[in-house]
Amino acid sequence: MANIPHGGILKDLHLRDASKQAELKAEAASLPTLVLTDRQLCDIELLLNGGFSPLEGFLNQKDYNSVVEKMRLSSGLLWPVPVTLDVNQEEIDTLSIKHQQRIALLDPRNYDILAILTVEDVYRPDKVKEATSVFGSNDTAHPAIHYLHNIAKEYYVGGSLQAIQAPAHYDYVANRFSPSELRAHFKKLQWTRVVAFQTRNPMHRAHRELTVRAARQRKAHLLIHPVVGLTKPGDIDHYTRVRVYKALMPKYPNGMAELSLLPLAMRMGGPREAVWHALIRKNHGVTHFIVGRDHAGPGKNSQGVDFYGPYDAQVLVEQYKDEIGIDIVPFQMVTYCPDSDEYLPADEVPKGITTLNISGTELRRRLKVGLPIPEWFSYPEVVQVLRQSHPPRHAQGFTIFLTGLHASGKNAIARALQVSLNQEGTRSVSLLLRENVRAELSSELGYSKHDRDLNIARQAFVAGELTRAGAAAILAPIAPYDEARQRARQLIGKYGGFYLVHVATPLEECQRRDRDGMYERARNGEIEGFTGIDDPFENPTDADLTVDITIQSVSQAVHEIILLLEKDGYIGSS
Ligand code: ADX
Repeated sequence: MANIPHGGILKDLHLRDASKQAELKAEAASLPTLVLTDRQLCDIELLLNGGFSPLEGFLNQKDYNSVVEKMRLSSGLLWPVPVTLDVNQEEIDTLSIKHQQRIALLDPRNYDILAILTVEDVYRPDKVKEATSVFGSNDTAHPAIHYLHNIAKEYYVGGSLQAIQAPAHYDYVANRFSPSELRAHFKKLQWTRVVAFQTRNPMHRAHRELTVRAARQRKAHLLIHPVVGLTKPGDIDHYTRVRVYKALMPKYPNGMAELSLLPLAMRMGGPREAVWHALIRKNHGVTHFIVGRDHAGPGKNSQGVDFYGPYDAQVLVEQYKDEIGIDIVPFQMVTYCPDSDEYLPADEVPKGITTLNISGTELRRRLKVGLPIPEWFSYPEVVQVLRQSHPPRHAQGFTIFLTGLHASGKNAIARALQVSLNQEGTRSVSLLLRENVRAELSSELGYSKHDRDLNIARQAFVAGELTRAGAAAILAPIAPYDEARQRARQLIGKYGGFYLVHVATPLEECQRRDRDGMYERARNGEIEGFTGIDDPFENPTDADLTVDITIQSVSQAVHEIILLLEKDGYIGSS
């Protein structure tokens, strides 16, 4: 047979005798070092523990070309996704990377030496060819194609690995099993038929039904095998997801299912990724693998069309199941049928019956606004976990960023707003005013553009952390530059509410109100670079609210801010 499957023979590179291991460790300490990227860190963990068997290192050029073109290593063994060590010219030069050289590869989080790489070759990949052959497109709306063109470095280094140690983990350690550990675990449990379920999303009733159906159909036990490495950007974080999986496990009959976490860096490669997932599960000792609708799908391309058809992954993986030595359990879209109060795959739903579904987007909206999530969709225990990590607006933090000229009334509004929010009493309120900011946070900074921007960046960082922690932050800098304000919005908006309030009191009025005579000193040339006199103020075009205290009183301005916060659900009981 030309293409002998690797038959599930595990290449666990950690298994080596102790004296040889000590020798390697000593050698590693004297070698030139390369710090891995986050993606490479995920890849190396599975290269070292055999999750990527038959690979024993990063692909050399011959294997890479063969994988890209034919989904096979040059030996003919099936391998669908390039696993490559990307480096840049500077790294090649400083490490003088060349054939036969030995390099220590370091964990980027703590600089532990994980492995020694023996270099076979350094080559420049054809990234357009890689994208089109592996992912079927060159559209950077695909996360892996974006990564390839914008993040992955220019060159790849091929070579075999010798393990020094596995990357350390501090989260959910008891739920992490290497392929060898999982195989031993199944043996201990006397599980001979195991169906694995891949996921990168929270699991709800549909997934519980789908997995139980698969187990029933194949008379098998279940391995819930979620990815906790890298998934699609924007996915729910793995801490929340693992809490969800743990809340779901008791919903299976006792002894039916186990949970193990997989440190894979997904590529969202649809069909090829499904073949890869099946191979990885085979290495972890399972006998069956579920592939449902839109497996490892990256979503839509820049034309708004799905990159892959909903069942393309099933079709491809079915072609290779014998070669991999794993049975595929395919599923059509599983949805809820309210009439019979059950979940059914699309091909088993009787004609004319209505089905219900809540999309991921709709679920996120309901969590955000605090709307109910029906019991037919998920378990109360799961919803509780999701609500903890996605608190409704009234439990989230926010920042009010007041921008405007000196003496425009920003400080008075900020103070009055603090009082008003204190009275509301739902959050701790932090006020960052010029006097404490310039004394505590930015004491060494002046008023050049660079210093002003840095001052805003620091305040935005602090406000971002406060917002993330659920507090209310009020900032009142002049913040004359649009770009710095936008950067603040971007940063803080990730953690909660962000409102830019332009205090647009006219310059003449600001000069009239100026009690410490700053404008006058600026006009007399005693102070240079004073905003409004000889330094610019870029009027915001993206203000959420504009107030002017020649038209409104301070309390009216505060009230408008309160109305804005209430409208979006941050204050007032909903
Ligand atoms: S994936 O990127 O890991 O594939 P997800 O976690 O959403 O995303 O899906 C995990 C697996 O469950 C995939 O095989 C997917 O096809 C399947 N799946 C998820 N939801 C459904 C559903 N409602 N019906 C059928 N299959 C589903």
